[in-house]
Amino acid sequence: GFALLTGCTERPSFDPATVNATPIGKGLPRDFLLGTSTSSHQIEGGNENDWAAWERSSYPDGTPHIRDRSVSGPAADSWNRFDEDIALMKRLGSNAYRFGIEWSRLEPTPGAWNTEAAERYRQWAHTLRAQGIEPMVTLHHFTLPTWVAASGGWENPANLDAFERFSGKVAELLGADVDWWCTINEPNVQAVFGYMDGVWPPGKQDTVATAHVIANLLEAHARAARQLRTHDTVDADGDGKATLIGLVHHVRVFQAASGSSADMAIAGLTDDFFNESITHALRTGHLSLFVPGSISLERDIADLRGSSDYLGINYYTRDHVRQDTSPSFSHKYVPTRYDTNDLGWELYPEGLYLFLKRYKALGLPLVVTENGMDDRTGERRPYYLRSHLYAVERAVAEGVPVKGYFHWSLLDNFEWAEGYEPRFGLFRVDRSSAELTRQATPAVETFREAARNLGL
Ligand code: NOJ
Repeated sequence: GFALLTGCTERPSFDPATVNATPIGKGLPRDFLLGTSTSSHQIEGGNENDWAAWERSSYPDGTPHIRDRSVSGPAADSWNRFDEDIALMKRLGSNAYRFGIEWSRLEPTPGAWNTEAAERYRQWAHTLRAQGIEPMVTLHHFTLPTWVAASGGWENPANLDAFERFSGKVAELLGADVDWWCTINEPNVQAVFGYMDGVWPPGKQDTVATAHVIANLLEAHARAARQLRTHDTVDADGDGKATLIGLVHHVRVFQAASGSSADMAIAGLTDDFFNESITHALRTGHLSLFVPGSISLERDIADLRGSSDYLGINYYTRDHVRQDTSPSFSHKYVPTRYDTNDLGWELYPEGLYLFLKRYKALGLPLVVTENGMDDRTGERRPYYLRSHLYAVERAVAEGVPVKGYFHWSLLDNFEWAEGYEPRFGLFRVDRSSAELTRQATPAVETFREAARNLGL
């Protein structure tokens, strides 16, 4: 792993003066998708699923599961405000929008389809397209219907059948309006938080389960892809492609905290586990997971090889890591000496460039499906957006086939175990008003500049 990150020097290398002087958006290909990204549970409001139950409950010692004690509740009420939200997308000048389908809404009990919910999602996709905004639809973004969670969630192979059936249904419902599909969002993050660290549902600390869940999520991707190809045969925009299917992969740079061989080895190992195991599996069909003393899994995943038309990349930050005897990754992190977002995540746009260059070798088109920062004043997001688009443009200039960039997020939303304190939105949501008023942050202008320079 580590050798692949050559060019990853500890000191950030982008020159802010150069970044600021670059007319952002000029270096992107003409057919580029420039949009924003959300997920169903984080914005819709009123969802009843495994996360909603988790939000209402506590750890055995009484500490609430959600740091700021919030529950997602009405979220941004986007279920009822699609017209308002689409106006925000127009205001940005964006030409694409990634959003999630909430499985628990569509199939509240096994095999019973909520046609009203289905119709609303279909209408959204249809309206987006009519407004010149390419819809990109995510099938699974961390949440499960309670009946799936109750029967073992992603640990139970029988639930892969249920997910496959759900995927086929969504393809039938939305295929006429949607070409771009994300199957599973961030299998590595979901498995590590839910099954290794125990801070997300189902709250387990079980390394064996962690590895099985990653394998099952990759199998779920392959099976969803099969369903999408069978049931979505409509080329919605007439570009010759009825489906463009991708897994959404969360990548992070792991930087050795020192030049010692022990720290370097941990950086490489962590990189292999989080980043490379997934892309290696997509390329070869074989998943290999290894953490000394806790995980050792080798599994061939049926139909995984060749299942993807593109790779989705979620990139946020770099972590500094050191050798430590504990099996958990969280013990290996050391605080960064560099600038961070309001959650303490280092700002490191160079990492996005490094990953785009690295994954060129996959031979697949790449889409940045998420990138953004928690910025509670909104003042620093303009530079974050600018510097990460600069990273994308440098990769494009060097021949990397990047097809899109989706900023996380359109608007402030429910940040999982962190609750509502973090602010990732280009538009701020005023949670003190019953109207949940949306307000532009300064980065809206930066986004508009990029859209204009792209010719949108
Ligand atoms: C990735 C996740 O997909 C999304 O749900 C989350 O809000 C952002 N990262 C920010 O942490």
